[in-house]
Amino acid sequence: MTSQAYLSALFSLDNRVALVTGGSSGIGRAVAGALARAGASVVVLARKEAELAATVDGLTADGCRAAWVGADLGTRDGVRAAAEEAVQAFGEPDILVNSAGINLRPPLGELTEDVWDTTLAVNLEAPFLLGQRFGPGMAERGYGRIIHITSQQAHRAFVQSGAYGVSKGGLESLARSQAEAWSPYGVTCNTLVPGFVMTPLNARLANDPEKVEALAARTMVGRNGLAEDFEGAAVFLASRAAAYVTGQSIFVDGGLSVH
Ligand SMILES: NC(=O)c1ccc[n+]([C@@H]2O[C@H](COP(=O)([O-])OP(=O)(O)OC[C@H]3O[C@@H](n4cnc5c(N)ncnc54)[C@H](OP(=O)(O)O)[C@@H]3O)[C@@H](O)[C@H]2O)c1
Repeated sequence: MTSQAYLSALFSLDNRVALVTGGSSGIGRAVAGALARAGASVVVLARKEAELAATVDGLTADGCRAAWVGADLGTRDGVRAAAEEAVQAFGEPDILVNSAGINLRPPLGELTEDVWDTTLAVNLEAPFLLGQRFGPGMAERGYGRIIHITSQQAHRAFVQSGAYGVSKGGLESLARSQAEAWSPYGVTCNTLVPGFVMTPLNARLANDPEKVEALAARTMVGRNGLAEDFEGAAVFLASRAAAYVTGQSIFVDGGLSVH
């Protein structure tokens, strides 16, 4: 057996269908690209159509199969409609990646109910509803991968965690509940836990070079994260190779969490 055939048997995503929310930017975009290049047909879902179209154009230019859905995950009806639109391109997904997320950072004392509701809706309710929509089908077909992108703030307070930390803590618990429900049927559910990653989500913080450097110094690797750092972990979790990895939180954070 050639090394290529061996690696392909372990990790190839040929004939798989993936849905990546937030797949038009940052970590989600890198993950969508990785899954597509590993063989999956990928649907990226977010609000801004220009970014979605650019992502899909880039992937199709590289010979990948990709499509996009423009949708707002901030309402339950929006999530339900988006899910139905997402299956139009390539059918029901085998892989669901929940990367869409928002981080509004008012100090807790000033955190309004609106911020609370919006944060919980996008960061936690949408992944729950998408799991309810796609998890049972994955279980019936005997193969599924659900990957949530959470945060160190699921584990510790960090720069006005507010509603964001709560939503990510809930998402880690959701992954465990989903793993408990569907792992017996070949559906694994895990989270990837970033530290500080240079993406548009952190634009404001990234403009402060001293803070950026101080955060890098808190890692073991000595630098902050890049979106592409998530590619390998996502392909692994999505692949056959990770069949016995479920209910886990996998930190991709350069050692930040263990320093
Ligand atoms: N960057 C970090 O340091 C860091 C650290 C810990 C955790 N994370 C998590 O990693 C995930 C990805 O973050 P990122 O850093 O890659 O951020 P990003 O570059 O800002 O990407 C966020 C994505 O979510 C989409 N999105 C936001 N609100 C949405 C909504 N209401 N409906 C549909 N799509 C929506 C955005 O597209 P539209 O704006 O077009 O909708 C975009 O594609 C998030 O869940 C975030 O919480 C990031």
